[in-house]
Amino acid sequence: MKVLRTLLIALLATGVLAGDTPALPPRDGWTFVAGAEDLIASGGWSCISGISTSGHNIVLTAGSSYSTQINTNGPRLAPQGDFGVLAALSPKSGSGWLTLVGVLGKDSWWNGLKRLDVGVTPTGLSISYFLGDSPSAQSVTFDGDTSADPSVLEVARLGTELAFSLNGAELGRIEDPGLFADAVYFGMNAAPNSELWISALSAAAPAGSATAILPVPFSQVIPRSGSGLRDLASSQDFLIGAAVTPGLLSNSRYASTLGAEFNLIVPENALKFDTLHPARDRYNFCPGDSLLTFATANGMKMRGHTLVWHQQAPSWVTNGKFSKEELSEILRDHILTSVSHYKGKLIAWDVVNEAINYGPPYRLRSDSVWGTTIGPDYIDKAFQWARETDPDVKLFYNDTGGEGLGAKSDAVYALAKDLKSRGIPIDGVGLQMHLSFANPIKPADLAANLQRLADLGLEVQITEMDVATPDPITPEKMAVQAGIYRDVVSACRAAANCRALLTWGISDAYSWIPSARPGNSGGLLFDQQFQPKAAYDAVKTVLTPQQP
Ligand code: XIL
Repeated sequence: MKVLRTLLIALLATGVLAGDTPALPPRDGWTFVAGAEDLIASGGWSCISGISTSGHNIVLTAGSSYSTQINTNGPRLAPQGDFGVLAALSPKSGSGWLTLVGVLGKDSWWNGLKRLDVGVTPTGLSISYFLGDSPSAQSVTFDGDTSADPSVLEVARLGTELAFSLNGAELGRIEDPGLFADAVYFGMNAAPNSELWISALSAAAPAGSATAILPVPFSQVIPRSGSGLRDLASSQDFLIGAAVTPGLLSNSRYASTLGAEFNLIVPENALKFDTLHPARDRYNFCPGDSLLTFATANGMKMRGHTLVWHQQAPSWVTNGKFSKEELSEILRDHILTSVSHYKGKLIAWDVVNEAINYGPPYRLRSDSVWGTTIGPDYIDKAFQWARETDPDVKLFYNDTGGEGLGAKSDAVYALAKDLKSRGIPIDGVGLQMHLSFANPIKPADLAANLQRLADLGLEVQITEMDVATPDPITPEKMAVQAGIYRDVVSACRAAANCRALLTWGISDAYSWIPSARPGNSGGLLFDQQFQPKAAYDAVKTVLTPQQP
């Protein structure tokens, strides 16, 4: 066992295993604390400002001053007796410390703070601790060979001492100044203009120890009336959803309407390429994860929107002047990383969004960096990469303006049919359904389109419905909106392959329509004050089972 641990540490220290090793081996007779095997994956780190993720690394980037970030919303340890924290650190161009906090500061950053920093310097380990009575730290250094990268650390509380090991060899001990009575919060600290990468983080304790991880993923749970749209929908195995913005969940009317009325969430922007993948080697899952946490806590499903789109691609992609091979590799990495992060957690992904022109001629657009650089088979590849990564999530092609019958609808149908016939793994078509008074939809055309997609074996979800309504709003216009909703929901409910309907927002107070179509209001189911509109009543009526 000891030999194995030494070997594993040696491999970790060469970096060979760092990419895919979630945890360092515990000491002889010790085991991982349950839930603390991999505190990087479970930590919600990308929700902390200054921290991003890259592969299985958390990366803290400091500006011109020290950056200390404590993960107060992530998992923390409730230590009992002896315990150890194991971490693999790579400070880049400077110094970096693993920061463990027993008590958070009150009022000022240092008042009451109990904190231990263990860092890697060119000559060994640099240890500082704060006792809460002054802003200055006590410091100790232990000499050691830090040439290996990453540096594999163990900080262990052993009785009344704290022991510090580097790459499997203990370098020294200090008397435990009583830093960790009830908690160990995990954090990181980087010197000015440096980056600290941590590729493994876990906690261990003697077998049988009572040390535990306190689970903290927090979400509000919304009270349910039992008579929301979601209750009617769920009883018929139907999904009624809305596009959601994480920052608005702190608005109580927004959150309570969402949780009480809908059983499906789609992130309005949080999973688009620019938000999710802001730099080539960085992903930010925080906004999407916070929506998934809300959905899970409230018994809702979530769909993913969207992996490949010509819009909301970041400038590092659009201005990167990448070759075909490079951009293919970038897209592949994006799809593998995003789909695997949410594997088993989403019901569907919009794999490709709006690949066909908005206006005639309805061909594959020539203004997409993906199509122009990779070629038209970027669509095939995107679906194949997504399927390779998650065999169960439903893969959708999503587009606008092709909901009824007509040239756009024919183009979407032809694309889907072609993908199907060549065995490209597509499960469904998303009909966005951004309607307007000038451009409503003929219910018979929608029904015919749903039927021909069903004949291809494809599911349909109405993914982004709203009805742009010219200002000023009047009761008459509310009634027209309601009629349009009634027609669409009725046609969807009448088609066995139409499994979900989502509106592109919750309340007209937060709709994209006024900025995208100036002079129009949102046309969602709830008004500016979150009161249900005539459109809400219309949807509810359609979802209410008919009395025989
Ligand atoms: C829109 C969002 O609502 C806006 O907040 C954002 O600024 C632009 O994108 N079709 C889509 C959606 O597939 O992603 C778009 O969402 C609306 C049109």
